[in-house]
Amino acid sequence: MRKRLGIISLFALLFIGFVVVWNYSYQQGLEGPYIPVESNATRTLIPSESGVFRDSDHALDYEQMIIDESYQRTLESYYNNRAYPGAPPSIQHPVRKERDLGGNVCLQCHQNGGFVQKFDAYAPISPHPEMINCRQCHVTQNTKGLFAETTFTKVSPPQVGVNNALLGSPPMIPHALTMRENCLSCHAGPSAPVEIRVTHPERINCRQCHVPNTVEYDQVEVFSRNLQESHE
Ligand code: HEC
Ligand code: HEC
Ligand code: HEC
Ligand code: HEC
Repeated sequence: MRKRLGIISLFALLFIGFVVVWNYSYQQGLEGPYIPVESNATRTLIPSESGVFRDSDHALDYEQMIIDESYQRTLESYYNNRAYPGAPPSIQHPVRKERDLGGNVCLQCHQNGGFVQKFDAYAPISPHPEMINCRQCHVTQNTKGLFAETTFTKVSPPQVGVNNALLGSPPMIPHALTMRENCLSCHAGPSAPVEIRVTHPERINCRQCHVPNTVEYDQVEVFSRNLQESHE
């Protein structure tokens, strides 16, 4: 008799235990999904990593390339061809047909670069070969002068050679990264402006050592906020 009572109360206990656990998990199941919201989320300063590696197949070729010293570009001539830092450069050479939009026509020289006899220069490599409608953004030069006087002045580009914390430490990236993910296209090979041609194109993971200069970004933000306020 006592033995049976023992078994019954054991079952009763197990049953109660089951009900409690089930009830608990049932109540838990009724709670809405919850994702913690970070209140201090900042903007991403890393728009894209993939491009960093996209052209790195050529990294070792760049290292072995002989630099043709009589045909080097400088940052001065680089910026002479841009309305402001980051603006699309104009096409300073004749284009074969006005209706050629780009793609194959332009990329035959601008995908991998190389010396072009008829223009007597190395073709700069396009950082964005996937944007095939080149002439949506790049226009030919119709004149070197101004159509009419204006008060427009260019913003000065960031300086080079002053971006390291210590002598010999990797300089910070002084410029924005949007559309500049293919580092090697501007920083390596004979068409790279001499001041920024990198001594180590083979270290393809550039941003392992070079970090964006966030102070500059903040200044840009303050600047655009002030601009907005002055318009209001
Ligand atoms: C036959 C080869 C060739 C073709 C085709 C060609 N380019 Fe070029 N391109 C060059 C060379 C070489 C330069 C450099 C000229 C110089 O430095 O004087 C250049 C310069 C440029 C520049 C200025 C780049 C800079 O950093 O200042 C742009 C923009 C450009 N080309 C766009 C185009 C577009 C768009 C097309 C197609 C409509 C095109 N190119 C077709 C060889 C070519
Ligand atoms: C959506 C607009 C857009 C399209 C389309 C476009 N570009 Fe550009 N391109 C730019 C801008 C903006 C820059 C300046 C990038 C910078 O300074 O960050 C640039 C820079 C360049 C440069 C100079 C790279 C250097 O050495 O500084 C070359 C060469 C070039 N583009 C070629 C091309 C070619 C060739 C095509 C077509 C296959 C093309 N682009 C399509 C906007 C565009
Ligand atoms: C469209 C061409 C272009 C691309 C793409 C580009 N850069 Fe630059 N970079 C420049 C120019 C031009 C300068 C000189 C300062 C300026 O005008 O912003 C510069 C300056 C720098 C400097 C400072 C060098 C010094 O001596 O102070 C570093 C570091 C740098 N870039 C790293 C990078 C890295 C890393 C990438 C890829 C994520 C990259 N750049 C992509 C054009 C480019
Ligand atoms: C392992 C770390 C490391 C990696 C990866 C790296 N760099 Fe550097 N980089 C440095 C250091 C350190 C310096 C400073 C060298 C000096 O002052 O002698 C430097 C200097 C530079 C400079 C100034 C000019 C020069 O060559 O001294 C540029 C531009 C530059 N790097 C761009 C790049 C680019 C583009 C990549 C990717 C292809 C890259 N770096 C990958 C460490 C690195």
